[in-house]
Amino acid sequence: PSDAVEVKKRVLLLKPRGFCAGVVRAIDIVKIALDTFGAPIYVRREIVHNRFVVNELAEKGAIFVHEIEEVPEGQRVIYSAHGVSPAVREASRTRRLKVIDATCPLVTKVHVEAVKFAKQGYSLILIGHRDHDEIEGTLGEAPEATQVVSSAEEVESLVVPDPNRVAYLTQTTLSLDEARDIIHALKVKFPNIAGPHTQDICYATENRQVAVRNVADGADLVLVVGSTNSSNSNRLVEVSNNLGTQAYLIDNSAAIDPKWLEGADTVAVTAGASAPEVLVEDVINYLQRNGYSSVEEVEVMPENVRFGLPPEIVQAIGGAG
Ligand code: F3S
Repeated sequence: PSDAVEVKKRVLLLKPRGFCAGVVRAIDIVKIALDTFGAPIYVRREIVHNRFVVNELAEKGAIFVHEIEEVPEGQRVIYSAHGVSPAVREASRTRRLKVIDATCPLVTKVHVEAVKFAKQGYSLILIGHRDHDEIEGTLGEAPEATQVVSSAEEVESLVVPDPNRVAYLTQTTLSLDEARDIIHALKVKFPNIAGPHTQDICYATENRQVAVRNVADGADLVLVVGSTNSSNSNRLVEVSNNLGTQAYLIDNSAAIDPKWLEGADTVAVTAGASAPEVLVEDVINYLQRNGYSSVEEVEVMPENVRFGLPPEIVQAIGGAG
């Protein structure tokens, strides 16, 4: 009998992965705006947190700026999928900018909740990452009333005027596990705390995490395609690492260290909500060239969410939607 049993190296390609409805919509908005109005079109911040997407749109003529003050008066500006604070909207008005809002509707929903709670006199606890564009925007809805926490430990030191009048909200792209722990700590500290029905983590963030959770045990390595500043992509890495399966965040195949693949017979591949499928294909091709002959798509749940375009765009393209 032959003594060497050849181990079959395989790839599990997770589904759902990659673009969410908010990202598809935001990218469509920039492309349609460029086609319809022509360059220059300014975009405040990265339209979505992926450098390939941003570079591609910049090549088509989009001009990315950090702050509204960098946009010349009277020009057209697109707000990114992560949303903006009222102060940014005001700055656009002052400069008489023509605004197209690509804020994800699921981020807008959190803004609406923030305004509602603040109007009712609640102190707001916003669970999220302080340096993220989305938190900057949501925080701006009620800056006087809002505090940001990013860990259960930070909950301990919170001070509010009335512990019976506190509400929490969450960033849309958090780790489900971490958010649950922080919400638990908040409920211990403020038993009467109000909040959204469950939390504000969006369907896409949740589904991609659930998919990783489902396969992490059966994989030797998890590769997450996404940029380093993408919150939901980083959370996918954490979910896997927390389950004991080594995971890495990679921009594309060039970022793969061949050492990672040593002894990794089963590699699971997924992508954050802002990572284009061509980069996933590039990673799969790399793995195939390196002996991973079988690629099996594992669909953990169906996902069919689509969002309509904003009125500024629908009008511009003649109401055809
Ligand atoms: Fe929106 Fe969630 Fe994507 S908040 S932009 S659907 S990651």
